[in-house]
Amino acid sequence: MTSSCSALLFVAATLFNGSLYAADIERTGGPYVPTPQAVVDAMLDFAKVGPKDFVIDLGSGDGRIVLTAAQRYSARGQGFDIDPELVGQSNAEAHKRGLADRVSFMQQDVLQARIDPATVVTLYLLPGMMQNLQAKFMRELKPGTRIVSHDFPFGDWKPDRETSVDVPEKYGSPGQWKSTLFYWVVPARVQGVWQVSAPALGSEPLALALQQQYQVLEGSTNAGGKRVPLAGGKVDAEQVAFRLALPAGTYEFKGVVDGDRMRGEATQGGRAVRWTAVRSQTAPAEAR
Ligand SMILES: C[S@@+](CC[C@H](N)C(=O)[O-])C[C@H]1O[C@@H](n2cnc3c(N)ncnc32)[C@H](O)[C@@H]1O
Repeated sequence: MTSSCSALLFVAATLFNGSLYAADIERTGGPYVPTPQAVVDAMLDFAKVGPKDFVIDLGSGDGRIVLTAAQRYSARGQGFDIDPELVGQSNAEAHKRGLADRVSFMQQDVLQARIDPATVVTLYLLPGMMQNLQAKFMRELKPGTRIVSHDFPFGDWKPDRETSVDVPEKYGSPGQWKSTLFYWVVPARVQGVWQVSAPALGSEPLALALQQQYQVLEGSTNAGGKRVPLAGGKVDAEQVAFRLALPAGTYEFKGVVDGDRMRGEATQGGRAVRWTAVRSQTAPAEAR
């Protein structure tokens, strides 16, 4: 699955961890191996980066992803890297290209970085660090933030999309000449118990218990004296969708999440009814 650059990243990481620079800085995300420019472009295209975006590259190396986002896609952005030389080089390059009013680079561990301004996060970090970052992303990124990773997926957070990219820089060299890109959209956190009101479906609100595993929703309500499991539940940014087989018929619920409130329409056989919901209980466990 990994390209030859990522194989190189693994080999370099082994050298670092083995002996070479182990006493130096702890580079848990891996050493510096740049993403080839064709892959940088593909990552930014995959995330549909544009002038309204703020792109954060975690482990920004020589700054190429954020610099390209500003120069070719008119975005703003920030890079974080633990290596002070790379950070200095990136800021110097931003000045040289006249981009310093829109991008900046900071020496900081990615786990400490302030990431909530991001609309897009880019990554080329080893799997252990990808695993470490999952919980931070779910806690700190806004729903709807797009994440693109070069070659390394998360653990149990399945990508929304995946693609492979030709890497012309590698033509003729041993190993694969392709990189894999993984893409996720941060879902709204909807875990908990919700009181769903839909006057057209009954005067009493339905207590809907939702369990969330990233983009996937499970749960149930009680209706007509029976437990009704939720089917086809998913969260895409702030949009929720699920199906409930209620006594009045099977309804497709679609709605928008806004903090502890949701609202939308439920349809059955071409008939649409409005619904609203209020979260009455947040689940004790952190939603994933
Ligand atoms: C594989 S390079 C990727 C560079 C750049 N994002 C790119 O794609 O060209 C990984 C970078 O992450 C940085 N890094 C590794 N662990 C880090 C950590 N814990 N905090 C900040 N930066 C880290 C390294 O110094 C290196 O520059």
